[in-house]
Amino acid sequence: MECSKPKKIIIAVDGFSSCGKSTFAKAIAARLGFIFIDTGAMYRAVTLYALDHGAIRSGIVEEEKVIRLLDEISIAFRFNPERGASDIYVNGDRVEERIRTIEVSNCVSRISSIREVREKLVAMQQEMGRQRGIVMDGRDIGTVVFPDAEIKLFMTADPAVRARRRYDELRAKGDNVSLQEIEENVIARDKADMTRKISPLRQAEDAVVLDNSHMTVEQQMAWFMEHFKGIIYGE
Ligand code: DC
Repeated sequence: MECSKPKKIIIAVDGFSSCGKSTFAKAIAARLGFIFIDTGAMYRAVTLYALDHGAIRSGIVEEEKVIRLLDEISIAFRFNPERGASDIYVNGDRVEERIRTIEVSNCVSRISSIREVREKLVAMQQEMGRQRGIVMDGRDIGTVVFPDAEIKLFMTADPAVRARRRYDELRAKGDNVSLQEIEENVIARDKADMTRKISPLRQAEDAVVLDNSHMTVEQQMAWFMEHFKGIIYGE
């Protein structure tokens, strides 16, 4: 049991789609009393707004239109005590559930490859981290958003395990998706995230890899605290 208070550091959690980054990042934040920010939710929120405002039709993204819409999009996180987590809002509307649909998942990689989208969201993320004491998860947190983060994790898991987890999550919410559809989406997003020109998904040189294919969140937490207690408590 730790007695001292954690230092106000920045913890960057990057990695592949659906490998439990947000679940684990949220658990770390709760354990240390830090703020948690899911940056994937921000890219999803822009994608949903683009879908709702005619900038994506039949899966085709009209890049110029998306860029024009950016000025009118305001994103905020508000803590929801019922969920014990923050919900995301776009221009005052709570969109926490709507950003998780397969329709949004299928377009989000394309939206997140647009330079202007990344510039806007990265600037917001850096501003959120100014007070430190934050755990942020995404694809480019340790490489671009906070290259000086004190702790960098790179999470991965077997694609079949990841697809199964996302499938169970969506089915539990009543989404009528097929496992095959999810598996295809996970693999396609990995490829798109790793090969895009701007800020591709890659492991920062100083990141520590965590493969959680066969680990519970409790096991991951025990590993994390053991591995990083020196940095967290400044011992
Ligand atoms: O973490 P997620 O699956 O909810 O993220 C959705 C998409 O957003 C993902 O396919 C890639 C993109 N993304 C990104 O490009 N950079 C980030 N920092 C976070 C997410």
